[in-house]
Amino acid sequence: MELKPRNVYLEEISHSRTERMKWWNDARFGMFVHWGIYALIGRNEWVQAIECIPPDEYEQLADDFQPQPGAPREWARLAKAAGMKYMVLTTKHHEGYCLWDTRQTDYNAVKRGPGRDLVAEYVEACREFDLKVGFYYSLMDWHHPDGGRCLYDTAARRRFIDFTHGCVRELMTNYGKIDILWYDVPQPLVNPEGWESDAMNQMVRDLQPHILMNNRAVLPEDFSTPEGHVRPAETGRGWEACMTFNDTSWGYMPSAARDSWTTRDILKMLNTASGGQGNLLLNIGPTPDGAVPEEAVKPLETVGKWLEQNSEAVYGTVDRAPLGTCACGDCSQKGKTVYFWCRCWPGKEFGLGGFKTPLKSARFLVSGESISFKQEGYRILLRDLPETSPDSLAGVTVIALEFDEPPEHQPRASTPALTVR
Ligand code: GLC
Repeated sequence: MELKPRNVYLEEISHSRTERMKWWNDARFGMFVHWGIYALIGRNEWVQAIECIPPDEYEQLADDFQPQPGAPREWARLAKAAGMKYMVLTTKHHEGYCLWDTRQTDYNAVKRGPGRDLVAEYVEACREFDLKVGFYYSLMDWHHPDGGRCLYDTAARRRFIDFTHGCVRELMTNYGKIDILWYDVPQPLVNPEGWESDAMNQMVRDLQPHILMNNRAVLPEDFSTPEGHVRPAETGRGWEACMTFNDTSWGYMPSAARDSWTTRDILKMLNTASGGQGNLLLNIGPTPDGAVPEEAVKPLETVGKWLEQNSEAVYGTVDRAPLGTCACGDCSQKGKTVYFWCRCWPGKEFGLGGFKTPLKSARFLVSGESISFKQEGYRILLRDLPETSPDSLAGVTVIALEFDEPPEHQPRASTPALTVR
């Protein structure tokens, strides 16, 4: 394969991007799965580095990794029930243990531990539940003998790059159509020249022409990956916020369970993602057995029920929604329709500020029941509302506002000292 100059390659893939990313832009919500032998320790996927566990000692754990056959089926079932449209599994995290049947190292799930190809089980489960398939791959590797040395030893770098590209090639070759390649942590080589990312990504696209790639092999590629916070990111480019389930660990960590997100927390993240034209990749860290951590099940299932009723406000082509319309919630938007997600139901009436475009109608998204309103200046006052939130699942009620045209919005527009006119 002949290597294209970077500018030619990046220009070329930008042409197919709209088409390739259509499903992803519509999907909004995916499941991240962090699973590796760190689950056996249960104190974060970085435990080996954080607690300075000697490599020999850590490596022995691989033999104790004995998950139930077919465990990924339960993740996929839950992802589907939660209204997620795709999954991304850590095929190899920083620890270096490969979950698939690789020829690049014996430190893998077929040779050590379960004796099965766990990536194959995962892909099968995604397909069964009609979820798009994503592979996470950590460039950084604490196990490979050249994983650190590659920084200053040319021969080691050559070996490590061949190993890395070899792993990626296998993942892109042996499991049919793969929808997402999610790189992580380009250490210690830090730049695309070090990782030979141009050649790597061009190989990936040669093998998987429809694939989407993130930006963590130090080329911009298709989407950005803000981590640990959900807030509207760049416009004009895909972004996907990735979040743990407890703000502490991606890998299984039972002692952090009490800090888990609630249904309402998750809906708030989805609200921000929808309003900012981004996606949410929400993580679970399965147990060493492969079970979904219990604390994730109920909130995710409830989110799924809520999404069944409110799908219009979430999936599909959305616009950048206005910010700061009311302290009781936030918006998402599709053209002339603004969806206000009211999560702090204030009772009989409340206002939405900053719209001057004429409002044609307001209705509850779920029931279609219309809502009476008054519009004066920059203020829309919704009236005669129920005392309590009509949404019994999570207390998050979506109100659809139909305008004459895609509305303009100016926050705090009637407050002279705050407004630049
Ligand atoms: C960070 C962490 C890693 C996690 C990833 C997810 O880069 O090093 O543990 O897998 O974020 O985005």
